Amino acid sequence: MNLPTAQSRTASSDTVEVNLSVNGSSVSMSLPARVTLSDALRDHLGLTGTHVGCEHGICGMCTVLVDGEAARACLLFAVQLDGAEVTTVEGLGRQDDLHPLQESFGRHHALQCGFCTPGFLMSSYDLLSHEPEITREDLPSELSGVLCRCTGYRNIIDAVDDVAENFRGGLPAPGNCGSRTLVGRTPAGSTGTASTDTTEDVDPTHGQGHPERINLPTGEPTIAIDLTSALTSSPADVARVMGDVRLLARCLPGAELTDVLGDDWYLGRAQVALGPVRLSFQGMAHVLEQSPERIAINAQGKDTGGGSAQARIVMVAEPSASGTSLHAEASVYLTGRIAGFGRSLAGDVSRRMFEDFARAIDQAAAGVEPDAAAAPPSGFTLLAAAVGGRIRARYQRVRVAARRRFGRSGGD
Ligand code: FES
Ligand code: FES
Repeated sequence: MNLPTAQSRTASSDTVEVNLSVNGSSVSMSLPARVTLSDALRDHLGLTGTHVGCEHGICGMCTVLVDGEAARACLLFAVQLDGAEVTTVEGLGRQDDLHPLQESFGRHHALQCGFCTPGFLMSSYDLLSHEPEITREDLPSELSGVLCRCTGYRNIIDAVDDVAENFRGGLPAPGNCGSRTLVGRTPAGSTGTASTDTTEDVDPTHGQGHPERINLPTGEPTIAIDLTSALTSSPADVARVMGDVRLLARCLPGAELTDVLGDDWYLGRAQVALGPVRLSFQGMAHVLEQSPERIAINAQGKDTGGGSAQARIVMVAEPSASGTSLHAEASVYLTGRIAGFGRSLAGDVSRRMFEDFARAIDQAAAGVEPDAAAAPPSGFTLLAAAVGGRIRARYQRVRVAARRRFGRSGGD
């Protein structure tokens, strides 16, 4: 397909190619020309730290750096920025190594709901990096381009002033920019697609090969899965799928195997949307054990927002009366946004994914291309299924309690 380039004249609905550097990663997106930078960052790259309030250039929530200068992402079309360097709040610092501004906002209680915080952080970064001698008296007017609806500005001014005082000699640069890969996606209803460069960024090892081993954290996992699924396919057919890592990867909802490193190491990516939280993981898997009836894998991946996931997965297939019984055990360790989603709901969603995984293995064993390969898991469907399951379980408990109390007729 020949797409118009960003520089050529184009209609708003035309799909264009846009190449950007976002937080130090090269990104190539194919999207409609009318898509704003804020929507491209949030919907196509999963960088939801850039908030959107007014979409009219008034509130400043969407402030990012474009070529080192603060800019309203809601007022720029992504197509205007071909070749630009964009820094978002995700690039400012890491969870384990916050930027001084982030640390100061926390220490001075400069946020309440946090909706304005990314805008204030990026705006104050721009201010202090350009005007290191700024005085406290000037801060209110200089930061008046960002609106806060709940904290009150005094604490925000205190936080920025503290950093200004401590870094007169130069503000540290954003600390989370590097060649971390951003994995694009096509939002529902969009005619565009987004993709990363196909060069070194696709390889999170940056050509270094694979590590000796994936070291999983010690301690209790964020999610523990212990699930048995009844498959209708024969053990021999299931063993054929278990023995083919490429086919197995196609059975995992939203996952894609991108490279084979050798020595049982694989590169891949996976996308999951949990309601408003969209996650794109890029990482590697090491097959530790593989036989016709058993496979053990260690995997680790990073999310574009700075979160990470590590997992140990063991699957065992055994003959059963109806075909094959597939037992899956997984210990999953999460950090970042998905960890904040709630251990129990994330666990429910993960179990649904494993159920879909088992269903797809059954399909593949029957010689049918698994649906999972074509359809990344819909956050809404997974969430609805997980929440629906909880409501049914709760309803069941209420019915049982009512029966105990009132007898059969009273509970119905
Ligand atoms: S959302 Fe961009 S200025 Fe309000
Ligand atoms: S902290 Fe809520 S809008 Fe500023």
